Amino acid sequence: MQAVILVGGEGMRLRPLTSTVPKPVVPLVDRPFVVYLLEWLRRHGVDDVVMSCGFLATSVRNVLGDGSQLGLRMRFVEEPEPRGTAGALKFAEPFLDERFVLVNGDVLTDLDLTAQVAHHERTGAVGTLALVSVEDPTPYGLVRLDEDHAVREFVEKPPADQIDTDLISAGAYVLERSVLDLVPPDRSVSIEREVWPQLVGAGLYGTPHRDAYWLDVGTPERYLQATFDIVERHVDTAVGERLGESFLAVDASADVRGRVVPPAVIGRVARVDAGAHVGSLVVLADGVTVGARTNIERSVVLQGAEIGADCVLRDCVVAAGARVGAGSHITRGAVLGEGVTVGADNTLTNGARLFPGVELPAGALRFPPERELI
Ligand code: GDD
Ligand code: MG
Repeated sequence: MQAVILVGGEGMRLRPLTSTVPKPVVPLVDRPFVVYLLEWLRRHGVDDVVMSCGFLATSVRNVLGDGSQLGLRMRFVEEPEPRGTAGALKFAEPFLDERFVLVNGDVLTDLDLTAQVAHHERTGAVGTLALVSVEDPTPYGLVRLDEDHAVREFVEKPPADQIDTDLISAGAYVLERSVLDLVPPDRSVSIEREVWPQLVGAGLYGTPHRDAYWLDVGTPERYLQATFDIVERHVDTAVGERLGESFLAVDASADVRGRVVPPAVIGRVARVDAGAHVGSLVVLADGVTVGARTNIERSVVLQGAEIGADCVLRDCVVAAGARVGAGSHITRGAVLGEGVTVGADNTLTNGARLFPGVELPAGALRFPPERELI
């Protein structure tokens, strides 16, 4: 079966993680984000993938190659300018089979695509949307279903006063090629706002996947959540299988002298000095170093980053090649971009974002204890 993956968005909300790397290839635990999607698709019989790229397509292609490593045929289609979700699909038309799967490139899921294809065939649908349930549907596409699972209404980004169901579109569709007849060529077209409404009552169905794991990994908070859910094995992934019952993967070449508490993943030639405490819910990528007595919990430290001695890292992301000086505290959703340097004795907290190229001198940033704030 064939799948088209939409990866043309700029990933603005994930910055600074996407300042230097396009979202599909941002590393998640130990592999590029979009590889989770590819592995999931392959488990459900997909062997042919069309990547619909916009922004930084070449680097996506450089990282993923031709897909043969994953046992997939993979082709890349690059739009001249962003065409929107349906416009991008239209642009890929020459490559498409009679029936294919279309997925948003920013979701992490293990939903049962095989069951959805079977449902699509049973109803003779033109399009079948995967549906998942969320607490707050306002940032998504809300779907009202009839008893026979035909879509009665589709409301993209519904206003809060219009919420009467918890079912939203998960961004994974089974489609017949005839859907493309509804998409005008050569302009930006939104599949959610212009195509689904036309298909209501004309062959659009929904398959609820109430037990599936599903997350739109659109912000650094959700990036951390996705990491935790993978290493806790709340979502079925190849990485989770590798972690097994110990919930731990320490590469044989890593030099660990401190304490590691699972779930945790420690990459090749990473170094954890004596007295350091790593975990739980920590990923140290290849070549990361952690100084003596440093404490890291619920955090991701990407390739080659160097964390000094006596630091505290909690609920944060440190991108590749960043350096954190001794005694610094990086906490509560702070994100350091690629190659950032933080001198000794700084405090970064409450969602602070440091963009690539920033160099913070020693002791430059401190927060007084809460009780001293006015
Ligand atoms: N090639 C290409 N060109 N891809 C695009 C373009 C484009 O112009 N615009 C968006 N995409 C890709 C994004 O990279 C992303 O993977 C996917 O299409 C969806 O775009 P988002 O910008 O992430 O949309 P959203 O999250 O606000 O809403 C969509 O996803 C929700 C589920 O996460 C909608 O499909 C909602 O209906 C759905 O509920
Ligand atoms: Mg999204």
